[in-house]
Amino acid sequence: MGGGIFPLLEPWFVSLAVLGAVYSTAVVLRLLSHLTLLLRRPRNPRRRYGAWAVVTGPTSGIGQSMALELARLGLNLVLVGRDPAKLQDISETISKTHAVQTKTVLFDLALIATPQGDEAVRRLREAVEGLDVGVLVNNAGVAKPCALYLHEVDVEAWVKMMRVNLWALTEVTAAVLPGMVQRGKGAVVNIGSGSSEAIPSFPLYSVYAASKRYVAQFSRSLYVEYRSKGIDMHAQPGPPPPVVPLPRRAGPAARRAAPAREPAAEGRLPAAQVAEVAVPCQRRQAELAWSRLRLFVHTLCSTVCDLTWICGPQFGLSRR
Ligand SMILES: NC(=O)c1ccc[n+]([C@@H]2O[C@H](COP(=O)([O-])OP(=O)(O)OC[C@H]3O[C@@H](n4cnc5c(N)ncnc54)[C@H](OP(=O)(O)O)[C@@H]3O)[C@@H](O)[C@H]2O)c1
Repeated sequence: MGGGIFPLLEPWFVSLAVLGAVYSTAVVLRLLSHLTLLLRRPRNPRRRYGAWAVVTGPTSGIGQSMALELARLGLNLVLVGRDPAKLQDISETISKTHAVQTKTVLFDLALIATPQGDEAVRRLREAVEGLDVGVLVNNAGVAKPCALYLHEVDVEAWVKMMRVNLWALTEVTAAVLPGMVQRGKGAVVNIGSGSSEAIPSFPLYSVYAASKRYVAQFSRSLYVEYRSKGIDMHAQPGPPPPVVPLPRRAGPAARRAAPAREPAAEGRLPAAQVAEVAVPCQRRQAELAWSRLRLFVHTLCSTVCDLTWICGPQFGLSRR
């Protein structure tokens, strides 16, 4: 036993202290590297990656904002969606407000791996062929039908969710990547979800959360796979999901009808909206306190996500 009156010099203590110091240094270095990324000047994606961007689901919410932002930065757009009228609308809005070109590809992503889906993939490949596509935003995603136990959901609904959220995302990426590999540059932004990143579980949305976990892991693996080919990968968690529980006794029909369980269309779930739903539920005090805590965590996560999104240089966040 070393040390005696100097218990601090006990070997076990020294080993623990060294371990702690190494761990703390690693944490600090990681934090600093993230801060450096945040402080870096935004790069111009057109110059850095290429003149065109492909955006899936550009007809509403986050996808629409992404498409408009990319157009503002001077990128031409290939808009991939399932509704011809909405595609036409967004295409015209973009052309009117920004001096960029647009192309539309009609593609119901839920039909992936069916003859119509194969045909749509072929159209997408054709549309991007010969274009300098530098950015792909895999945004389209489905969280419907709503908050339900797995055994209550129609099989068709969660099969559709998996088709759109992971299968189609994979095929679209595979269709756009060859050109990027050929040019030795590109960026893929996959819109994930806070439901698989910011919270440990997301009950009643298990298939949705699992599908977004796929998106995160898929992106991480592709990042390693393609970094030597000049392609950046970025999985954007998106705003965290609504977390206020529904009344326990509500049946599937009530849960289907509940409005605030769906992710908000504008990519934000205002706290006021959550509160509105929470109050009429008339839960016991303890449950209410728990809801408030979760709401607080949700708001905190939203703020962090928003700050990352606002402060982080677009696409500069991907590490190369
Ligand atoms: N909003 C949130 O709070 C939140 C939170 C975390 C993650 N996210 C993720 O962010 C992404 C966008 O969410 P959002 O809230 O902006 O959704 P949104 O407003 O509902 O928009 C979804 C987009 O995807 C398209 N889409 C849906 N199903 C499709 C299909 N089968 N084929 C082709 N396009 C399809 C929609 O087209 P139509 O206009 O034709 O329906 C729409 O353009 C999703 O991946 C979502 O999971 C959102």
